[in-house]
Amino acid sequence: TMKVIKTIPEMRAWTQAVKARGETVGFVPTMGFLHEGHLSLIRQAKKRAQRVVVSIYVNPTQFGPNEDFEKYPRDFERDEQLCKAEGVDAVFYPDDNEMYSSLHKTYVITEDLSQVLCGRSRPTHFRGVTTVVAKLFNIVQPDFAVFGQKDAQQAIIIKRMAEDLNFPVEIVVAPIIREKDGLAMSSRNKYLSPRQRKEATVLYRSLKMAEQEYSNGNHDIEDIKKKMRQLIEAESSGKIDYIEAVDAETLGPPRPGERPILIALAVYFEPARLIDNIILQKG
Ligand code: PAJ
Repeated sequence: TMKVIKTIPEMRAWTQAVKARGETVGFVPTMGFLHEGHLSLIRQAKKRAQRVVVSIYVNPTQFGPNEDFEKYPRDFERDEQLCKAEGVDAVFYPDDNEMYSSLHKTYVITEDLSQVLCGRSRPTHFRGVTTVVAKLFNIVQPDFAVFGQKDAQQAIIIKRMAEDLNFPVEIVVAPIIREKDGLAMSSRNKYLSPRQRKEATVLYRSLKMAEQEYSNGNHDIEDIKKKMRQLIEAESSGKIDYIEAVDAETLGPPRPGERPILIALAVYFEPARLIDNIILQKG
């Protein structure tokens, strides 16, 4: 039977008992309101470990002052049922006081990587993500943790942090799960009106168009980005935050034909801000 754990000492004790039996622990951190994207991460974790922990915590420090922390969708009962059905062993479900005492002063910052792409419009977001993930790693103490390629920049930053701070946690990155029409699954898709929901399919079409251009030999990245912008503007009311092409590993300048390129975008469909990405393999 699945355990719901709300305190840090209990979580630590649970992992210790599992490890004492010689079993491995896989970890899937989430903010809840689970969908097939989250479930795919849980299935990956189940394949690789004997025991799986899912955390459900809407982390206040990764939301900016004018962002959707209060409105972020929450449904613990439903999440609990979904986790049970996937065979999750423990759900870590702390409250804010458990995670951040009134004396909290320490943050983890991954320099540079946290200031590009999404970091431009959300300058303190990744500081909140790395801080809470560092805390969760120290609390859950898993052998590995699974993250989604949906949040490509987050996955790169977490990998960097885990190496830089010597966390004994292997970082696994799992592919993007999409709706039938291509829209990347996200808890925030709930905010979309029916019209916006239809229009939002242009994001994936713009990424596939970029992939097609590139594989047809167009290595003019600026031209590809321009064509993506034109398509999104022609077929939706979305306001583009950014469309960027960067080195898929370093987030530095892209090197077409030499190294994999990450094409990433963020577009406002107010009040939602949607992100998506694709990797163009070299050649
Ligand atoms: P959340 O947005 O709930 O996402 C939890 C995990 O699910 C992340 O690793 C994310 O990349 C992955 N995910 C979301 N949608 C996905 C999709 N369509 N396909 C595949 N994976 C998907 O990301 C966070 O929470 C938080 O920042 C967190 C890491 C939990 C720290 O608070």
